[in-house]
Amino acid sequence: MLNKLLRRTPYTIPQDEDRLISILKEEVPGHIAIIMDGNGRWAKKRSLPRVAGHHEGMKTVRKITKLANHLGVDTLTLYAFSTENWKRPKMEVDFLMRLPEEFLSTFLPELVEENVRVEMMGYHHNLPAHTLTAIKRAKEATKNNTGLVLNFALNYGSRAEIVDAVKNIAAQIEAGTLDVSDISEEHISEGLMTSKLPEPDLLIRTSGEVRLSNFMLWQLAYTELWFTETLWPDFSEESLLEAIESYQKRNRRYGGLKGEEAN
Ligand code: FPP
Repeated sequence: MLNKLLRRTPYTIPQDEDRLISILKEEVPGHIAIIMDGNGRWAKKRSLPRVAGHHEGMKTVRKITKLANHLGVDTLTLYAFSTENWKRPKMEVDFLMRLPEEFLSTFLPELVEENVRVEMMGYHHNLPAHTLTAIKRAKEATKNNTGLVLNFALNYGSRAEIVDAVKNIAAQIEAGTLDVSDISEEHISEGLMTSKLPEPDLLIRTSGEVRLSNFMLWQLAYTELWFTETLWPDFSEESLLEAIESYQKRNRRYGGLKGEEAN
């Protein structure tokens, strides 16, 4: 029964089978976005350098990607580096810029095997060449995969992308190809880096911080939010299942009414 419901099998998820079956019988969120926070605190608690927390966080990325893919999640967007993260010490920034390479050089064969497609959203212009090369290689190697889209938000900032979308609209008006009265929400959505992705159904933020930190501000308008005290390196398969179970209990109304209430 479980194997029939899982997108890819065989997979030994260290979880109670009945629990997984009941999750898979309900709607699994199509797009999950995660603000992976708390790596520094995880390291500090162990008297380790902050970068040790990021390194451990990378292992969590592997676990969660794998489970999300097997559960049939279509897109997993991970906030790996924001446009504001350049303010961190150079050594930490350099380490973070090396992580996609390390992650992909270790796990790319597994991602290919698992049918995962790697994508990236974010500004390319000030990313180091070695980071971009690693991402480009991974995108190329996985471009025909049809399973989960693993979308890294790298050098991503939501306000900046909204400004860019607005500039694009202004340019169309200036060129006479768009009328001010015709501007719609779609014009903004189409100008964002997520134009080809569905909006997130579920946003997870770890580490007890309860804010959006310039992440997908437009796209999250009707997303269900789930916050946990768990630090990202400690975030487990169990934590993801808990978040999905919470999502499945929500009543998404998009500003309207549903079921009984509508009568
Ligand atoms: C926030 O924690 C985390 C980041 C800025 C980086 C997130 C990156 C990873 C989890 C690794 C990504 C892996 C790949 C494959 C790209 P923080 O440093 O702000 O933690 P703190 O709030 O406890 O200090």
